[in-house]
Amino acid sequence: MTEHKFAIVLGTRPEIVKLAPILRVCDERCISYSLIHTGQHYSDELDSVFFERLNLPKPDYHLDIGSDSHGKQTSKMLTGIEDIVQTENVDIVLVQGDTNTVLAGAIATSKLDAKLGHIEAGLRSFNRDMPEEINRIVTDHVGDFLFAPTEESATLLRNEGIDESRIYVTGNTIVDAVQANREIAIEKSAVLKEHNLTPGEFILMTAHRAENVDDPDRLASILSGIDRVARELDYPVIYPIHPRTQNRLNEFNLTVPDTTRLVDPLDFLDFLRLEDTASLVITDSGGVQEETCILQTPCVTVRDSTERPETVSVGANVVVGTDPEDIVNGAIEQLHKSTDWEAPFGDGTAAEQILDILL
Ligand code: UD1
Ligand code: UDP
Repeated sequence: MTEHKFAIVLGTRPEIVKLAPILRVCDERCISYSLIHTGQHYSDELDSVFFERLNLPKPDYHLDIGSDSHGKQTSKMLTGIEDIVQTENVDIVLVQGDTNTVLAGAIATSKLDAKLGHIEAGLRSFNRDMPEEINRIVTDHVGDFLFAPTEESATLLRNEGIDESRIYVTGNTIVDAVQANREIAIEKSAVLKEHNLTPGEFILMTAHRAENVDDPDRLASILSGIDRVARELDYPVIYPIHPRTQNRLNEFNLTVPDTTRLVDPLDFLDFLRLEDTASLVITDSGGVQEETCILQTPCVTVRDSTERPETVSVGANVVVGTDPEDIVNGAIEQLHKSTDWEAPFGDGTAAEQILDILL
């Protein structure tokens, strides 16, 4: 068996969560790797708290890039990753998802004598205004090992002319992460008590997508929709707020309705516990659409499209846009459905399958 030199690149909250199962399997199998953190996320509550709660090793390299315009941020990450891949003689670089960190890792690797593995390949929202859509397309087209979570995402890759030999359907590592942490969250998380919430009698909310929160009208419309859902159901809304959204609320001088409790971003165990016990989750997050589907919690997505259409097909999710009336109707529709759908993202062995393929 050839000895490979791996580099695993991450930079944001969802990448830390979804790469955690890969790091765990690497440790179990004594596979060595260099862990590169770009520093795209750097606030403790989006970064270090996840390393601590998920018992992850400290990154071997921290590029400390931070926030900037997309071009500047991506180019600084690209240069940093290139240097490490060259000096460490890395021959396989792994990236996960669709952030600027992923794009930087993909372009850096494609210019070097190393192979690129893309975990969560083949997702498409068909909305090219989203920076994530461009990041996904570019990464998939330069990737050598494309780990598609579902047959549907594999088909989308084939439809773009990508050769079959590069495509592997493995499921999504988020299933592995949820399976590994659900019981731990029940045992360790005190979030329900801390926020005085009763299982099945509250709504969990997240919204941070640039296309929603950077537009004052869309953000105001989402807040109004959430308020109407809370009043209609007579449930409180808990909203762990992403720093991007908090900045925009301040900038646009928007106030959050009384029915909505803003809290700081939560660590993964606390957040998972809330997703597991909420009556309903309203979100624009990609990962949250998947996790709610896995946890049998109904979801309403406040976006115009989703790159996770499988969640809609099985009945776990509806995509309603940002009109308050549509948000209320979506919430009512979801609450009246049965939640016995089958989650489409695999059986929790994605990380093992990915490493088997690479080795
Ligand atoms: C990024 C990803 C998005 C992903 C999200 C996960 C891109 C283009 N976007 O969006 O796909 O869904 O991460 O959460 O890669 N900030 C902080 N602390 C931090 C990080 C950011 O305060 O640790 C603030 C800064 O004001 C920054 C803003 O949030 O300008 C946006 O951060 P950025 O990393 O550019 O994008 P996200 O919105 O986090
Ligand atoms: N998450 C968390 N705490 C929070 C909000 C989200 O741990 O307060 C987790 C969530 O469980 C999921 C990931 O963060 O695993 C999703 O990240 P985010 O919504 O920021 O990004 P996206 O998935 O949309 O790219």
